[in-house]
Amino acid sequence: VSLQQYNTFRFDYQAEFFALVEDLMTLKSLVSWAQQQNINITMLGGGSNLLVCADIPGLVIINRLTGCHAKEESGNRISLIVGAGENWHEIVEFTVQNDWFGIENLALIPGTAGAAPVQNIGAYGVEVKDALARVQVLDRNTLDVYWINAQDCGFAYRDSHFKGQWKDKYFITAIELSLKKRAEFMLSYGGLVNQIDGEPSLKKVFQAVCQVRSSKLPDPKVLANAGSFFKNPIVSMAQHIQLKKSFPSLVSFPHGDAFKLAAGWLIDQAGWKGKTQQGVGVYEKQALVLVNHQAVKAEPLLELEANIKANVLNLYGVELEREPVQMPKPNEEPQT
Ligand code: EPU
Repeated sequence: VSLQQYNTFRFDYQAEFFALVEDLMTLKSLVSWAQQQNINITMLGGGSNLLVCADIPGLVIINRLTGCHAKEESGNRISLIVGAGENWHEIVEFTVQNDWFGIENLALIPGTAGAAPVQNIGAYGVEVKDALARVQVLDRNTLDVYWINAQDCGFAYRDSHFKGQWKDKYFITAIELSLKKRAEFMLSYGGLVNQIDGEPSLKKVFQAVCQVRSSKLPDPKVLANAGSFFKNPIVSMAQHIQLKKSFPSLVSFPHGDAFKLAAGWLIDQAGWKGKTQQGVGVYEKQALVLVNHQAVKAEPLLELEANIKANVLNLYGVELEREPVQMPKPNEEPQT
């Protein structure tokens, strides 16, 4: 089966075995079948934070586990349990319609609810960890299903244990959000506050986020991409002082004792914005996003990535790190 419609870069690679799963029973029996056959499993959600760069050996499962249940908690809280395969933006819309606060800044992020904790999606000063109570997982070895508290998931900027030490241990089957019934907004980040007329309301914030995102970021349905292709690099205070001296207009944000640099600025200033080569390119309105105009395979994109990284390292002494997840994992690529 071609994975072209299951990754938003639209690269055309094959899955050896393929299944689209909508319920937990089916998922469990597939996992147990694959175990008996000694077949590797790769699970995908919306494929929107993914760089597929070769055929994927073994079984690819598309997670479409559904469900969305709200429960009143005591005080100011609403608990919302969401199946991992639900579309993230539709869940955000649903919470806004119901007047529940907490994830409105995360509107229009492509992908599924179950993928949100993996890289701890974040935008406009909010990360999913801020509204996440628990993550439900299927243990790949024992086939047990249980909940893990959010504080045990190792969440950090675009990172969690699901990307790291738990990569081969669990499949995420559902998430539990903890939302608020009373208004509480985060507007200070990314000029959001300037987009809102008068008193902020939940709908206004939601609309402002949608508006800002769609003006800067390409819609993957129209132009293939996987969002930010690089993480914003974190540098020491000393390196930040040095860089500021050489590049006074450098864009950066304090990050604990260190500084987070706007990788988009570094790439933009290096002259890459809007450039295209071999059917792939750097998005014309946001240099942090690489886009696929017409490539069928990933090689041109990998080449563009290598060129940008080398150039940024050379100019600023800063190593850019890739943000989307690569599949198959480098050690699993088919031998040709
Ligand atoms: N900038 C430029 N040129 C560019 C792009 C950015 O000069 O081409 C400078 C501008 O000064 C701008 C600043 O960089 O103000 C920051 O840019 P922006 O607000 O667009 O945010 P970002 O740092 O590029 C991050 C996230 C986005 C998220 C936005 C808003 C990462 C890797 N990316 O982007 O997340 O939507 O902030 O919170 O942290 C994603 O992860 O896929 C993603 C889109």
